[in-house]
Amino acid sequence: MGVPEGSAGAATLRYEGTDIELPVERPTLGRSAVDISGIGAHGLAVYDPGYANTAAYQSAITFVDGEAGRLYYRGYPVEQLAMSASFLDVAYLLIYGELPGSQQSEEFVAQVRAPKAVPHVAIERLFDWFPESMHPMAMLATATEALTAYAEEDSAADPGAKVEAAGVRLLSALPIFTGYAMSVVRGLPRGRSNRSLDYAEDLLQLCFTIPGSDHLPDNATARALNTLLILHADHELNCSTATLRLVASSGASFYSGVSAAINALWGPLHGGANQAVIRMLQEIKDSGKPLSYFLERARDKMDPFRLMGFGHRVYKNYDARAKVIRQVALDLVEKLAPADPLLEIALRLEEVALADEYFISRRLYPNVDFYSGIIYRAIGFPDEMFTPLFVVGRSAGWVAHWLEMATEGSRIGRPTQLYVGPVERSVPKAATTA
Ligand code: CMC
Repeated sequence: MGVPEGSAGAATLRYEGTDIELPVERPTLGRSAVDISGIGAHGLAVYDPGYANTAAYQSAITFVDGEAGRLYYRGYPVEQLAMSASFLDVAYLLIYGELPGSQQSEEFVAQVRAPKAVPHVAIERLFDWFPESMHPMAMLATATEALTAYAEEDSAADPGAKVEAAGVRLLSALPIFTGYAMSVVRGLPRGRSNRSLDYAEDLLQLCFTIPGSDHLPDNATARALNTLLILHADHELNCSTATLRLVASSGASFYSGVSAAINALWGPLHGGANQAVIRMLQEIKDSGKPLSYFLERARDKMDPFRLMGFGHRVYKNYDARAKVIRQVALDLVEKLAPADPLLEIALRLEEVALADEYFISRRLYPNVDFYSGIIYRAIGFPDEMFTPLFVVGRSAGWVAHWLEMATEGSRIGRPTQLYVGPVERSVPKAATTA
């Protein structure tokens, strides 16, 4: 896996009269990359703020074609998977490289849905301690970190087997953590996992079923959530996955890496954008101001306001995931919350932004977070639960990336810097005698 197609020739860098030959690697898809790993010997480094053009790993998991607005998991277009597969089959695909056959699928589901995978009592005690004011993302990160205490699989000798066992436990635990976080947010008793339901159904009933009632989630809602989990399952080296890989490279524990990734995902420029979008749409509605006022603010470099849910580092076209999510939002909202005024505002905002010169020239389109919150809201989730739902989906990709590193091996991640501080100087005498 991850083996470059071969050399695409070489690039020559001329510096201080010397020609430095740099090999160019050609991937199976995407931009060729100049291999600068030998550049240090010439006293040089590469300056690339935000790692926008830095390929730090080879990976065979996911490919984002930003120009075309396409996303592929192990070569399969994501929209095909989103419409036909179950989330756990897609998780299997990401982790093991192929879609499971029916027996493999059954075995994988049985492992993930095994009741003993999660140490309920200890984890419940942890959630007892969490105050309502704590953000659910912090709850998920803390509970995931706590799994290190119960990870007997960490003692497995084979690095791949170790990650597989930990990954199964993570996939098993996250719907429960999300349900528990929801109970803290709502101040209601905790639900119990119902292992006879499928993954998305159980996630829904954990979040919404009042203990003692036999209410089960309806099919359309569970299908929509399954689609959202698939669309969020992986997105190559985004901020949280890059964080996870950096932690993995130091040899730290899997759950610590996932906990770090959850925290990275929380930020409003990353996964936290789904919550920020709804807050922005609400602000627009409450203000009574025209959309042109907000577009003007988004264009103004002196104003920190940005159009949340718009723009992407890689997509310079309509985000493949956003297209599917927009349609799911239209279908589900009509069924569950036909009068949601925020959907109307979102649709109009998209229309005016896509016709605006600022957004056109910068190729800014709606991303995965623009419409997902509308769906979660229609289902009944409070906005602080949106990013935890992103975590549940993305966990599949995190397991796949950790496994890829564990089986391929890697060097410790350690970017360099352009130091711009003071040169060496002596501490003044007065300071040393104080
Ligand atoms: N509103 C207004 N202007 C924007 C926006 C936006 N949402 N996004 C980018 N721009 C402008 C930016 O100011 C810059 O303008 P100029 O060239 O005049 O300086 C230009 O477009 C390029 O943007 P950038 O900030 O250099 O792009 P980036 O790749 O560093 O950042 C981003 C990507 C996603 C952080 C950014 O587009 C953004 O802040 N979007 C809003 C937050 C958001 O929706 N995040 C979710 C991302 S997708 C899911 C995920 O990652 O979890």
